Amino acid sequence: MLRSGSPSTFCRVTTGATAPVPLVLDDSVLSIDIDVIRVTLHVLAATIWVGGQIVLQALVGPLRRVAPAAIAPAARAFAWVAWPAFAVLILTGGWMLAGAGEESDAWKMTLMVKMVLVLVSGVGAALHTFLKNPTLKGISAAIGLVSALGVVLLGVSIVEAG
Ligand code: HEM
Repeated sequence: MLRSGSPSTFCRVTTGATAPVPLVLDDSVLSIDIDVIRVTLHVLAATIWVGGQIVLQALVGPLRRVAPAAIAPAARAFAWVAWPAFAVLILTGGWMLAGAGEESDAWKMTLMVKMVLVLVSGVGAALHTFLKNPTLKGISAAIGLVSALGVVLLGVSIVEAG
């Protein structure tokens, strides 16, 4: 009998004289339930909101040199993905909170600080879109990104504490 992948998670097949057994999942594979889907959506949206801002800010310098006219359309295209992701973060975050049990005061305080940073991140990104002054545009983008990184840090610390 051959095994593929790691012994604890993968499938078995037989070879040779005996008829092959269809792929069989081990009992040790963790199940994917609604909680897993909910956190997955939250994390996926976080990667878009935060990772997208990092990538876009990294691209602005090179684009300014070789194709300045592409910056505005690129930022607009990102906004079409980023704001729905932000909405998903709020919806899935609220959904997780609705299902949360009794938590410690430290957990609640961390969550409260996280909510403030979520607000700062959203306002920073919105100001960045609407402001015209390049310096203020840069400052608001930086505030939006740094606060979003803080949100990720606190989100992970909430999960680690749970
Ligand atoms: C910019 C917005 C947000 C970002 C980037 C963000 C990011 C994250 C990340 C990275 C985690 C850790 C996930 C893990 O390690 O499994 C997390 C967890 C969590 N977030 Fe958010 N989040 C955001 C907004 C929100 C909002 C608005 C709420 C509530 C209304 C919320 C509630 C939660 C909760 C309750 C957890 C813990 C989940 C658990 O215990 O499994 N988040 N967040």
